[in-house]
Amino acid sequence: MSKKISLTGIKPTGMPHLGNYLGAIKPALDMANSGDYEGYYFIADYHSLTTVHKADTLREYIYEVAATWLALGLDPSKVTLYQQSHIPEIMELNWILSCFSAKGLMNRAHVYKALTHNNEVDKRDTDHGINMGIYTYPILMSADILFLKSNIVPVGSDQLQHIEIARDIANAFNHVYGDVFTLPEAKAQEGALVPGLDGRKMSKSYDNHIPLFLPEKKLRKTINKITTDSSEPSVPKDPNNSVVFDFYKLFATEAQIAELDAWYRRGIGWGEAKLELFNVVNENLKGPREKYTELMADKSKIDLILQEGADRVRPKAQEFLKEVKKAIGVLN
Ligand code: TRP
Repeated sequence: MSKKISLTGIKPTGMPHLGNYLGAIKPALDMANSGDYEGYYFIADYHSLTTVHKADTLREYIYEVAATWLALGLDPSKVTLYQQSHIPEIMELNWILSCFSAKGLMNRAHVYKALTHNNEVDKRDTDHGINMGIYTYPILMSADILFLKSNIVPVGSDQLQHIEIARDIANAFNHVYGDVFTLPEAKAQEGALVPGLDGRKMSKSYDNHIPLFLPEKKLRKTINKITTDSSEPSVPKDPNNSVVFDFYKLFATEAQIAELDAWYRRGIGWGEAKLELFNVVNENLKGPREKYTELMADKSKIDLILQEGADRVRPKAQEFLKEVKKAIGVLN
C-alpha cells in the first residue's frame, strides 16, 4: 500500500522563534522523520508576498526558513523540500480554483475578517490596506494542497479554517466534474505551548520572543530578560509558578528537572536559575545553530536542495494539471 501524502507550507516571514520550534516545527519534523508518510514541505513564498514587499527581505526570509528546517533536521533524502514559486502550475490551479470559490467564503476567512474589523473600529474604509492577495490567500493555499493530492496537512490551529476552505473548494469542483481532487484532512499539531519572556504566549507580535539562532551572547542576554519577581536568592521558590522553570522543562532531561526543582525549593537566585536555563537551551541549539550558520554562509547548498525538490514535484504538478484541464474542457 502506498503511503499517505502529508504536506505543509511554511510562510517565510523572518527567523522562527523558540515558540514556533517547539509548537510547530518539532512536531512536523518528528512526523517527517517517522517515515509514515510521503512528506512534502514547501516554502510558501507567494503567500509572503501578500505582506513582504521588499525584494531583499523576501529573499533573505526564504533562505532563513529553508536553513532553519534543514538545520533542525529536515532530511531532503526522506522528504521533499521545495519553493512554491518554483512550481508555476500552482498558479494555474489557483485561477481555476478561484472560479469555484464563492466570494462569500473569502469574506468569512478569519484573517480578512479581522483586518476589515480593525478598519471599521478605526473608522477607515472597510478594505483599507487589504490587497487581493490577502483576500484570496485561502484559494492559493487550496491550490498548494490540492495539486499534490495531499491527504494530511499538519498545521497549527490558526490554519484549520484554511483547510476547511480547501475542502469546500475541492468539493465545489468535484461536484461538477467528478472526483478530480482528493479531500485533504487537517492534522492539528500538538506541540508545546511556549511562554514568552513576559509569561504570555511567545509571539512576535507581543515582542516577547526568543529567535531560534541567536549568537550565544545574545541568547544569554535575552534569557536574562525573562520576567521574575524580586525575591532574594535565599528565599525558596515555587517551580510551578515560574516562567524560567516552565522553559527549563521544555529542554532539560528528567534528572536535570528534578535537580533544579530541588534547588528552587531550597532557594535559588534568579541569575543562577537563568544561567541553568541558558545552559540547557544552548546545549540543545548549539548543533543546529552551527549548521544554520554554515548553510546561510554558502547558500548554494540550499539552492541545490530546492532545485532538486522542484525537479521532483514539477512533473507531478504538470501531470495533474493536465487532468484538471481536461476535466474543465481547455485541453483535449
Ligand atoms: N498559511 C500558512 C501559514 O501561515 C502557510 C501555508 C501556505 C500552508 N500554504 C499552505 C500551510 C498549505 C499548509 C498547507 O503558516
